[in-house]
Amino acid sequence: MTETIKPNILITGTPGVGKSYLCDRLAEQLKFTWLDCSKIAKELNFIEEYDKEYDCPILDEDKLMDHLEPLMANGGNIVEYHGCDFFPERWFQAVFVVSCANDTLYDRLKERNYNEKKLSSNIECEIFGTILEEARDSYKSDIIYEISGDTKADAEKSLNTVKNWYSMWKRK
Ligand SMILES: Nc1ncnc2c1ncn2[C@@H]1O[C@H](COP(=O)(O)OP(=O)(O)OP(=O)(O)O)[C@@H](O)[C@H]1O
Ligand SMILES: [Mg+2]
Repeated sequence: MTETIKPNILITGTPGVGKSYLCDRLAEQLKFTWLDCSKIAKELNFIEEYDKEYDCPILDEDKLMDHLEPLMANGGNIVEYHGCDFFPERWFQAVFVVSCANDTLYDRLKERNYNEKKLSSNIECEIFGTILEEARDSYKSDIIYEISGDTKADAEKSLNTVKNWYSMWKRK
């Protein structure tokens, strides 16, 4: 019996909206591999330089991509990143854009001690739906899904949305 290769899923959205919270649970429940790009970039030093103004590392996208390419060929990955326009479109069978309420996001980012500039740019990113727009510019609309990472109840619903998608995908 030949085993079908599992799909690859992208979970994207503004920093702090709850991507990791969802990925952690999804990886366990679906038996997928969670690839947290920020974490991988830090661990393997896929960093081009450091942006002092925004107090954040600038990702070396090419190095990250070279690292991910063979992993993506195996399928069964949940890729997490707060951006989505540089990945090859062919990698993903579904793209889930996580969002959350602005006040919730503000509190979460404040807790991380983000500086004012970083805080306001991330809140603006969420208000303007920047990542959703980026996803729409980068992937076909019929594979993009909007999910919420606001409350625990929202997360439950979002987990079900992804799990239902996967059930449908398997039936195809
Ligand atoms: N649905 C939720 N209900 C309650 N708290 C949540 C929920 N989702 C995330 N949180 C909390 O909010 C904080 C930020 O969440 P998380 O780390 O998952 O965000 P993220 O989108 O992965 O951020 P980053 O882009 O920096 O990786 C964490 O403390 C997490 O526990
Ligand atoms: Mg995260």
